[in-house]
Amino acid sequence: MATLDGKTAIVTGAAQGIGQAVAQKLQKQGAHVVSVDENPAITGMDNVLGLQADVSQRAEVERIVATTLDRFGGIDILVNNAAHWRPTPVTSSWEQALEDWDYIMNTNLKGVLMLSRACVPHLKQGGGHIINMSAYYVLPAKTPGTNSPMTDLYNASKWALNGFTDAWASQLAEHNVTVNAICMGATDTPMLRGAFPDGELPPEFAATVIQADDIAQLVLDIMADGRTGENIGAWAGEPVALPPRKAPNKRITG
Ligand SMILES: NC(=O)c1ccc[n+]([C@@H]2O[C@H](COP(=O)([O-])OP(=O)(O)OC[C@H]3O[C@@H](n4cnc5c(N)ncnc54)[C@H](O)[C@@H]3O)[C@@H](O)[C@H]2O)c1
Repeated sequence: MATLDGKTAIVTGAAQGIGQAVAQKLQKQGAHVVSVDENPAITGMDNVLGLQADVSQRAEVERIVATTLDRFGGIDILVNNAAHWRPTPVTSSWEQALEDWDYIMNTNLKGVLMLSRACVPHLKQGGGHIINMSAYYVLPAKTPGTNSPMTDLYNASKWALNGFTDAWASQLAEHNVTVNAICMGATDTPMLRGAFPDGELPPEFAATVIQADDIAQLVLDIMADGRTGENIGAWAGEPVALPPRKAPNKRITG
């Protein structure tokens, strides 16, 4: 029997990249998957419901949850993967900075807040899992100068995500709901390729980047392990693997 038979998962940002790999991995393990994206999402796979929805909009979030319950009868897994990124130079105009703030924060934080709050009552019913997709910036740096000054708002959104992961893990432990984040380095997805002029990764870089399927496997490993409240790193150029559990005071900060 597959490990996730009878479970229902919502994966956001699942039309491409890491979200698509996670949705496919969960489906292969037997889960029913609601694959959410603001662009047309995955379709044509057994037990995968593709739902075009914008997680930054409250009514859309409510529609995601209502549709999931109507179709599959419960929610066991939420993967908050959808995120916006774009360069946000600190020298841009106020108007541009405020537009960038809404573009990034409304998805990367408000969307995570709303969808998680909407899912928690259902996750609590039988225990479950929340996985937040963060970034390696929030863990102790292995090399100097890893945070680009062009991505202040995106970085800030991932740092703020720590607060959600930490607080929800504490609050939900008694309900057998685990909350963790994956803090990955450069992973070969359209988001990463979009940062290069012609969408082509330089060959030396391409040889070290993480594959989205490895992050998807890490999602399965985290859930099977049962830990909670951790920011779990995945580093470009290193094998992606579940590390030993961390001491409580190191769970979020690494
Ligand atoms: N790729 C990397 O190198 C990398 C590194 C660190 C962290 N991450 C994180 O991993 C996650 C996935 O990244 P990716 O590289 O696969 O990104 P991606 O841009 O390739 O895919 C993200 C998907 O999210 C969708 N999306 C964005 N905003 C949405 C919204 N409001 N509602 C619904 N869908 C929305 C997009 O349409 C897209 O299909 C993100 O949280 C990202 O911040 C990625």
